[in-house]
Amino acid sequence: MSDTLTITDNRTGKNYEVAITDGTIRAADLRQIKVADDDFGLMSYDPAFKNTASCRSAITLIDGERGILRYRGYPIEQLAEQSSFLEVAYLLLNGELPNQEEHASWVNEITHHTYIHEYMTKAMNGYRYDAHPMAMMVSFLGALSTFYESSKEVRNPKVRHEHIIKIIAKMPTLAAWTYRHSTGRPYIYPDNALSYTGNFLNMLFRMAEPKYEPHPVLERALDVLFILHADHEQNCSANSARAVGSAETDPYCSLAAAAAALYGPLHGGANEAVLRMLNTIGHVDKVPEFIQACKDRKHRLMGFGHRVYKNYDPRARVIKKLAHEVFQVTGRNPLIDIALELEKIALNDPFFVERKLYPNVDFYSGLIYQSMGFPTTMFPVLFAIPRAAGWLAQWQEMLTDKEQRIARPRQIYIGHDERAYVPLDQR
Ligand code: ACO
Repeated sequence: MSDTLTITDNRTGKNYEVAITDGTIRAADLRQIKVADDDFGLMSYDPAFKNTASCRSAITLIDGERGILRYRGYPIEQLAEQSSFLEVAYLLLNGELPNQEEHASWVNEITHHTYIHEYMTKAMNGYRYDAHPMAMMVSFLGALSTFYESSKEVRNPKVRHEHIIKIIAKMPTLAAWTYRHSTGRPYIYPDNALSYTGNFLNMLFRMAEPKYEPHPVLERALDVLFILHADHEQNCSANSARAVGSAETDPYCSLAAAAAALYGPLHGGANEAVLRMLNTIGHVDKVPEFIQACKDRKHRLMGFGHRVYKNYDPRARVIKKLAHEVFQVTGRNPLIDIALELEKIALNDPFFVERKLYPNVDFYSGLIYQSMGFPTTMFPVLFAIPRAAGWLAQWQEMLTDKEQRIARPRQIYIGHDERAYVPLDQR
């Protein structure tokens, strides 16, 4: 038995043998299949990349059938339990967990790049009070590129490192300032004595107190949420970072493109939809009626189901536990009872069981964010902060992969054949 695929072209009767590697055939191998010498050759057609691997990646593994998520081989549950977000960011970018010295240096570098050029505040002040924080975030990422001309040297590993540090360091500052802007409060500058998430909470919520002290449970909860959201292999935004970055665009603009993808409601906006749904249901007594309406296809059970996971999303399990820890501090979010009842009924209902519909990461995360005081418009921004580490890891992997070129798909042209131009006065 050989690892090859034999293809018979019934148009010509010719046979072709193409190699199978890692369960994949190379689309370019199809090009040899032609009906005439001047034929372009066979292509594959795969709108939305449903069955096409666009890269070889060593960063994140998802096994949707078994409900497994691993970063660089480490199970997400172990990382969420024992690691920190900055350590996970290092792991995603460098392939290994840092030793103590590497960790200290990494944290030190990031902590000392949290400030943002003061001119950026002028740009921020130009936005209306009700500007969506995620749209601001997209534009701030692009705007940062104007301050760092050297970031265009994307083939230089030292330069890449410098800007990776800057981006991871500045994401919380940008994010917090979008929130302060929308609430009309003055921007709070970073406090380098605090942790990554402790400082983020400081920049979000500090008022007149001389020294902000983050609640350790909330500081850790945010760190765990950041770990859970740090990467998710070739999703829409990671693919955007890779595609734009493949043109050798600088990392700020490449990440602006990724953030723009995450802004879309089909990608980063589902937890907001969960909260809206829970508010609409309003009371646990209404849950059976709502579930029935889902089965009658009147609406979907938001936060349930996933294109890849056909099992319990491992991140949802961690988040559910985290929610209870956060509520000990913030007070119980009354919507949690509705969420628990929905989950209980759905997990025992044949409609959901047969379709392998389980809670996904968004089912509980919105409840935690709301309890911590975030408005729903901040949810995608909270997603973007940690995902920047994943985007950068994916971007860097693409740049250092010798097989990659500018991302440029083919098309099947379905337009007119050649026709002659008709001048305007004759139309
Ligand atoms: N509620 C009720 N029924 C559902 C749900 C749901 N949440 N999700 C899927 N189904 C049903 C569909 O009606 C379909 O049933 P049928 O085969 O009888 O017609 C079957 O399950 C398969 O559904 P598809 O839409 O084909 O599955 P797909 O993989 O395309 O969709 C998606 C995945 C978009 C996530 C879907 O499950 C959904 O809409 N969920 C709710 C929104 C949500 O929570 N999104 C967040 C995803 S996680 C993330 O992006 C970070």
